[in-house]
Amino acid sequence: MTSDVLLDLRKFLAPEAVFGVGAGRLAGRYARNLGARKVLLVTDPGVAIQPWFPDIVASLAESGVEHVLYSDVRPNPRDSEVMHGAEVYRSAGCDCVVAVGGGSPMDCAKGISIVSANERHVLAFEGVDNVPKPGPPLICVPTTAGSSADVSQFAIITDTTRKVKIAIVSKAVVPDAALIDPALTVTMDRELTANTGVDALTHAVEAYVSNAHGPITDLFALEAVRRISRHLPAAIETPEDLNARGGMMLGSMYAGLAFSNAILGAVHAMAHSLGGLLDLPHGQCNAILLDHVIDYNFTAAPERYTDIGVALGACIPPGADVEEKRRLVLAQVCALKAAVGATATLGSLGVTTADLERLSEFAMNDPCMVTNPKAPTALDIRAVFEHAL
Ligand SMILES: [Fe+2]
Repeated sequence: MTSDVLLDLRKFLAPEAVFGVGAGRLAGRYARNLGARKVLLVTDPGVAIQPWFPDIVASLAESGVEHVLYSDVRPNPRDSEVMHGAEVYRSAGCDCVVAVGGGSPMDCAKGISIVSANERHVLAFEGVDNVPKPGPPLICVPTTAGSSADVSQFAIITDTTRKVKIAIVSKAVVPDAALIDPALTVTMDRELTANTGVDALTHAVEAYVSNAHGPITDLFALEAVRRISRHLPAAIETPEDLNARGGMMLGSMYAGLAFSNAILGAVHAMAHSLGGLLDLPHGQCNAILLDHVIDYNFTAAPERYTDIGVALGACIPPGADVEEKRRLVLAQVCALKAAVGATATLGSLGVTTADLERLSEFAMNDPCMVTNPKAPTALDIRAVFEHAL
């Protein structure tokens, strides 16, 4: 018997999510309903000065919930920032964590939550299903349309001793609630919008071609590609366009649901390596690497990459051979990158050939490499890095 449905076992996990303008102001109500009395509010210095931030803080007070602010979080959040946050949580007597920000504050908040419940160093949770006890209630309010940490079962933390990013993959880091408010993203500048947007696109692309994809993640991944390609240029050109911002936020959420369950691939393995070793911005690394990795992977999943090309708007003739498809898909991805101003190279960020051996070695050890559709050698990865210099 043949089947057009993938029948391999697949699990799909998603948190409770509220999507729409005003979702951020529900933080207080959600915290109270989860039994919170005192919240650790995790954010970063850039988010804490946004004009809408006081409204989110006020929603806590209006619901009778106290809060302690923790904003000592930088991009590529470090193990030390998580441990410091957990100490603040403990000493202030908090019983709930609310994260407001992009991927860095949300991943840091996830770390603080599980460290607080288990009283272990955050690095002890590295890997899959290594968190014995669930953390206290965790509410995430994303402020970029990119990381989707608010819907994912991933937390990525920098091990400052080894200079690598570790992945914590566990149901315990799926938030209790994701409050997804497109209005919070209108204050992002062009560069952040572009880099986080291409990060979201990369989540969708890598989830769709992942070895662990399934029928549910496919649905979210392809729709994410469509929405991101339609709305990202407009979100950059007209930052206050709520329709474009909403389209991006929805596309990012779909991409998050896809990659949280189908995992990622070589682009993220390599971006994690760049972030851990050289502290480079995650979204920008993905944007630089995306087309180079598609070029490398293409023959391992030509039909899947063709679906992505079509979802991006490419016209691919029915009789096109694999080489023709590869050319058209790559042209479409590069056109989108050019349209959003993602023109940097690894060389322009200061990466040199002297870095490539360690970068390749670390990327090969990253858990995201396991689900890449093609199994590379370290030399293959080095060559991809070299093309992106
Ligand atoms: Fe990412």
